Amino acid sequence: MFNVLFFDSGVGGLSVYRDVIAEYKDIEPCFLFDNAYFPYGDKASDFIRNRVTALISRITEIYHFDMVVIACNTASTIALQSVRSVVNIPVVGVVPAIKPAARLTKRKIIGLLATPGTVARSYTHDLIRSFAGGVQVLSIGTTELVRIAEDMLAGLSCNVEEIAEVLMPWTSLPANSQPDVIVLGCTHFPHIKNEIHCIMPEALLVDSGRAIGRRVRSLLSAMSEKRQSVSREFAGKIAFCTDISILSEQNRQVFNKFGFLKCLEFRPCAG
Ligand code: DGL
Repeated sequence: MFNVLFFDSGVGGLSVYRDVIAEYKDIEPCFLFDNAYFPYGDKASDFIRNRVTALISRITEIYHFDMVVIACNTASTIALQSVRSVVNIPVVGVVPAIKPAARLTKRKIIGLLATPGTVARSYTHDLIRSFAGGVQVLSIGTTELVRIAEDMLAGLSCNVEEIAEVLMPWTSLPANSQPDVIVLGCTHFPHIKNEIHCIMPEALLVDSGRAIGRRVRSLLSAMSEKRQSVSREFAGKIAFCTDISILSEQNRQVFNKFGFLKCLEFRPCAG
């Protein structure tokens, strides 16, 4: 069994967790979500980099993990290098699936649906430059959809009209100018894939979850041959939040549904 830490600002990363577990079962997962500063999408880049680095650095000092999966595009596109420089285990990040989308588009127009932070990052612009040459990329940066996805997953009723409004910059275009492939560049959005599909039924929706699952499988399979004994305690199948006083009952239930039966608080500066 490998101890893998999944990290996100909220419940979005559970979509990545689900895809990883589908690829590789030999995992004892732990989830850390930064509900104290949710959502990440509208926060300053430096803040996100420092915060994510501090959280992951601290939790990996306390508990044993074999790998970290930053199951958040907003965090990965700014903090991946910084986190890698402070932990000595593999760190897998999730970034928008621009490359496969650029291969799949027939119309040569792809849509990038992500947080405002991810859409603005130079990391994302580099991905577009490197892998989407000759393809028009239409971006929508939204925190609204992140909140809607959190609510939906928590069982609160979803207002499809609100989602439709977010997608209006694309749906209001003439049919042949709309993206035919949409990158779900935020890990919250696979949770509302069906609703997005209802609004843009012609478009193919792609995300990075399965590719991350394959990447984790390949890294862990290679590691399984040279495992060493571990001295630090493993956290167990726990969902850690960063502020238990604001943890909603709905969020707790969402984590329970995914098998994380214990929700505890983790603060980077405590202890
Ligand atoms: N789920 C995250 C992502 O993939 C972040 C959402 C947010 O906190 O704004 O970008």
